[in-house]
Amino acid sequence: MPAPAIAREHGTPVYVYSRRAIVGHYRRVAEAFAAVSPLVCYSVKANPNLALLRLLRDEGAGFDVVSGGELARVLRVGASPKRAVFAGVGKTDAEIEAALAADILMFNVESEGELDRIAELAVARGREAGIALRVNPDVDPSTHRHITTGKRENKFGVDFRRAQFLAERILKLPPLRLLGVHMHIGSQILEVTPYAQALRSVLEFASRARERGHPVAFVNVGGGYGIHYKDEEAKPVREFAEALAPPIRDAGFRAILEPGRFIVGNAGILLTRVLYVKESGDKVFVVCDAGMTDLIRPALYEAYHKVWPVESDRAPFDEGSPGLVTTDVVGPVCESADFFARDRRIPRPVPGDLLAVFSTGAYGAAMASHYNSRPRSPEVLVSGTETRLIRRRETVEDLWRAEEGL
Ligand code: LLP
Repeated sequence: MPAPAIAREHGTPVYVYSRRAIVGHYRRVAEAFAAVSPLVCYSVKANPNLALLRLLRDEGAGFDVVSGGELARVLRVGASPKRAVFAGVGKTDAEIEAALAADILMFNVESEGELDRIAELAVARGREAGIALRVNPDVDPSTHRHITTGKRENKFGVDFRRAQFLAERILKLPPLRLLGVHMHIGSQILEVTPYAQALRSVLEFASRARERGHPVAFVNVGGGYGIHYKDEEAKPVREFAEALAPPIRDAGFRAILEPGRFIVGNAGILLTRVLYVKESGDKVFVVCDAGMTDLIRPALYEAYHKVWPVESDRAPFDEGSPGLVTTDVVGPVCESADFFARDRRIPRPVPGDLLAVFSTGAYGAAMASHYNSRPRSPEVLVSGTETRLIRRRETVEDLWRAEEGL
């Protein structure tokens, strides 16, 4: 499907996703971990669009949710709640109630207070609740500090000593059943070693809990598998599976995985049109119609996304080519952090050119905002030669739909 045709039909900015890439990535994970009968719980936060959830549900995926909103989305596409796990350090009563009512597979519990609250609400409802304790294995996954979650100082999970205490407590809380142990050490991880290291202690803990009489059946190794942003820097998921699956299998557990970025990240691009090319000081600024309200990753994490003109016959797709110009590719938002690329070599664009911002299927549309009163951009799913609008462009009325008091 030629990108310019999509841009003409739906306007810009527009997110474009590939169905085949999404399904292919999902299958790659499921197949790599086949030895441990994995429940692959797509991490909804990466891209919560209903059409994508539906697609993954049809593939047999489960879902990792972190809020009542995400749970509602999963139920909305008719996915089985018995394939849903619920993480997050700040679950509210309303969210816990909704998850109990839906009868999800398990809560990934992050604190003693939360454990007690789930028990109270479960008793009040006359329900049982599946529990996984989220442990903090204190490993360094060598990724950006904002997306590290498994180090001692992070707010996620509890250390093994406390987890041990919580496991004992569960024995005294009849509606709770300890079905799993959960870890998630961070995101965009390019190394297998931190997972393998964390898994060792997690398996030890899980085996001990089982010996103590808990019906622990699952070890949840979380998500975080890195993808290609710059070059071919990410490892095939097979390599993670080769290190993780055998010890899980040997210990007699099933695996739960929570990949988000790996499934959708490289399956999406953001198309944006160049509005102006301006020079100031020593800089060439390429001003686009998309901004940090569409894709905040560069502003938030100084994340690298490839940017390249779609219809470029001027240079091969290679930042090392001769005849390129060093530019800052920026958006229209009134913030200096509103950029997609800084000091980036690209063929000099002219106003009206279409640019592609690559690897934006994960944490792109999902983190979009209305800042500067900018309506959010549409999303299109390409399937073979067909394109389907899976989220329409917002109108200005959508901006104030929830506001009152005019
Ligand atoms: N499981 C848990 C408990 C998580 O907290 C996350 C992501 C995942 C699974 C999925 O991780 P993934 O496979 O997508 O790496 N906004 C940041 C990423 C934040 C990730 C938060 N947790 C970014 O744009 O890089």
